[in-house]
Amino acid sequence: MRKLSIILCGLILFGCSEQSRLSTGPRPNPIRNPTTNPNPTPGGLGLRSLTKNLYIGTAIVAPIPGSDPYASILANEYNIAIAENVGKMNVVEAKEDVFDFTAQDALVSFAVAHNMKMQGGPLIWSRAAPGWINKYRGDAAKLTTIMTAYITTVMQHYSTKFPGTIIAWEVVNEAATAGLGVFAAVPDCVELAFQTARAADPNVALFYNDYGDETSGATTTKVYNLVAPLKQKGLLDAVGFQSHFGVHNAPRMSAIKTTMDSLGSIGLDVYVTEFDFSLPSANGITPDNPRDLILQGTYYNDYLATCLAAPNCKQFITWGFTDAHSWIPRFFKGAGAALPFDANYDKKPAYYGMQNALSRPAAR
Ligand code: XIL
Repeated sequence: MRKLSIILCGLILFGCSEQSRLSTGPRPNPIRNPTTNPNPTPGGLGLRSLTKNLYIGTAIVAPIPGSDPYASILANEYNIAIAENVGKMNVVEAKEDVFDFTAQDALVSFAVAHNMKMQGGPLIWSRAAPGWINKYRGDAAKLTTIMTAYITTVMQHYSTKFPGTIIAWEVVNEAATAGLGVFAAVPDCVELAFQTARAADPNVALFYNDYGDETSGATTTKVYNLVAPLKQKGLLDAVGFQSHFGVHNAPRMSAIKTTMDSLGSIGLDVYVTEFDFSLPSANGITPDNPRDLILQGTYYNDYLATCLAAPNCKQFITWGFTDAHSWIPRFFKGAGAALPFDANYDKKPAYYGMQNALSRPAAR
């Protein structure tokens, strides 16, 4: 079997090189120049080809690794991405008043080249505030200037340099949980952040992002009370559900659906922004109990199906796609293997769970 596939591959490769030697003029690149199917993959159609009106995406590392299938999987499977870290303030304005977009620009260029969209941000997140800002702690006027200048400069850089690519900005992250940190001194901080973002680019969607807001509970109520007035004022379009789940804290789909519906009832969209499903894993890469992979696959299927069934759930993004690049083992000792591709870039049941959800007749 293996021998046969090697021979077949050889024939195909030979055929290709033969064709390129004979053909004149540029040959179409199926990824850069999508025709009917924007994303053929050698192993079947990518996830992005299975849906017409859902953004299916992943967080991405920078720079994009060049020596393994990272880039090709990214382009074949996903139609939206967000920088895992290089869009954060501690990277973009690591030095006061010096904006460095180099790392994120490379990711956005990749997105443009592969017909993908991006999310931008987080613009304001207490945990990503650069160190230099602490010297202004408590100085409301100065912090207001820093915050509004940051939001405006960053958003306008992208709307000017890459028009239409960043379609949604994560304006504020974790205000209801981690808190606003140094920005708490800014009067009406969250509202001002959204007002500034709306003015900086009226054509993109703006969202508030948090964890623990996916089901019922104190955080969900807090987030609802934070976003509802902003929605009324026309300042925000969606709420992000980070959705870092795992075998020990997997919420029921009915609870998630209820929250999606309640936000939908006041006209808000929902984006699943950072989904992963971690398993007990001593080395952070392989599950301690291989049967957990099946459970994980079911959960990926169910969560994506829940999003697809809610008309206001518009984006479904996982926090990375390969266990080779995942934040889980670094932050949660004894956990890992949380993503749809394993560390060798092989598809896991989690991948097939997503594929299944997208392939069902009810999918959109
Ligand atoms: C995490 C990244 O994945 C890590 O690499 C980094 O060290 C810290 O931030 N919630 C968020 C994300 O909103 O921005 C975090 O990303 C994960 C938790």
